[in-house]
Amino acid sequence: MNPPDDAKWTWPPTFVWGVSMSAFQIEGATREDGRGPSVWDTYGASGRVANHDTGDVACDHYHRYPEDIALMRGLGVRAYRFSVAWSRVLPQGRGAANEAGLAFYDRLVDALLEAGIEPWLCLYHFDLPQALDDLGGWAVRDSAGWFADYATLVGRRYGDRVKRFATINEPSIFTLFGYALGGAAPDAADVSTLRRAIHNVNLAHGAAVDALRVLVPQASIGAIHNVQPCLPATPADTDAADLLGAYWNAAFPDPQCLGHYPSRLVEVMEPYVQAGDLARICRPLDWFGLNHYSPIYATANPNSPLGVTLGAGPSDISRTPIDWPTAPEALRETLHQVHNRYRLPIYVTENGLGSYDTPDAIGKITDTRRIEFLSAYIEAVRRAIAEGVDVRGYFVWSLLDNFEWASGYAVRFGLVHVDYPTQKRTPKASYFWYADLIKAATEASRVIPLARSGSGGLDLLR
Ligand code: FCB
Repeated sequence: MNPPDDAKWTWPPTFVWGVSMSAFQIEGATREDGRGPSVWDTYGASGRVANHDTGDVACDHYHRYPEDIALMRGLGVRAYRFSVAWSRVLPQGRGAANEAGLAFYDRLVDALLEAGIEPWLCLYHFDLPQALDDLGGWAVRDSAGWFADYATLVGRRYGDRVKRFATINEPSIFTLFGYALGGAAPDAADVSTLRRAIHNVNLAHGAAVDALRVLVPQASIGAIHNVQPCLPATPADTDAADLLGAYWNAAFPDPQCLGHYPSRLVEVMEPYVQAGDLARICRPLDWFGLNHYSPIYATANPNSPLGVTLGAGPSDISRTPIDWPTAPEALRETLHQVHNRYRLPIYVTENGLGSYDTPDAIGKITDTRRIEFLSAYIEAVRRAIAEGVDVRGYFVWSLLDNFEWASGYAVRFGLVHVDYPTQKRTPKASYFWYADLIKAATEASRVIPLARSGSGGLDLLR
């Protein structure tokens, strides 16, 4: 494959530059205006998060969203991907809706549109209402119906203004860690619960797509998956890598986009699949949301419920400050794989670098490593597009430092630093770098229109 011709290459004019965040990680106000608890409130309250952190205040985005939207505007992003907190709009997860909670997302959506930023609404980002978990959560088949009813409420309320919807963020991550590997809510460790949850989450996805299609005829609907090469930690771990890779990379996108479970899992999933289920799950989608950070390493481990756990991987590879492998080529390869396998337009809906950024003596945050990381990964996207992969957008994770799940507030992914005690937001060097990149990319593509059709590549102007 040839590298793009740098002199002539420009980003497609329709390319969507964005940032992503999620409700529980930023909103705070967990007990305000009638919000019900989610499984992550419970997990935090149990002291299992690093430093005993909780999401109670987080970035106080519930009150400070106008300031955060002003920061997005300063960046020049065209789109903001956020999630709705299910238990804020349905405190019990089903039944009576909470008007005050619904009104918050009205304010958010209206303010985004006012700022010229397109709202990309994700229905679910790890935060199952606790009341539903008490009824068995994703492990019971009713969960698909609960989710469809919630999607109906959201579609009906915001569908006049929101046209971009995603169903479920990274289903493989919250099911694998929440039901088998540990380290995430609801913290179960049982393989049959995991498999049950996988199938019910897939059913929930399909049911939500159907609900949104009816309510929002012009909706552009996608699914968001974390796909990353799953490599053996040692030569003896080849089979473990194959197994973990099947759960991590294929257990959701294969049934959702191709209508079958990956061959490695067909047999173990069979007990949960009823007649007609795969057709219920595989509903037409408009795009594939790819979250990608790094390759992962698998280690065979007979003591783990799955027989496999995440391994450390080689010590001599480049890594981010939080020890995640850095491999931009893996993003490029993954984009090709996803394109070839699922044949949908791709948006990179998350990519970013976690670190322990601290302000210097004069309050500046010079996050050079984040800039280097993002440059290399965006270059991988650029090359994939030039090679014919239909990538239509890129969203940095994240605008703000936020609640990084079991790592709490110690790990920072933001382009903007948050001083949690004062809630002061300080753009880091990477914020200004990303703003410049977006400006240059959009200005250049306005000057030189692209026409790639006929070259075996894309017709991005259509
Ligand atoms: C992804 C999650 C997101 C954030 C990043 C770092 O797996 O979707 O919420 O935690 O990782």
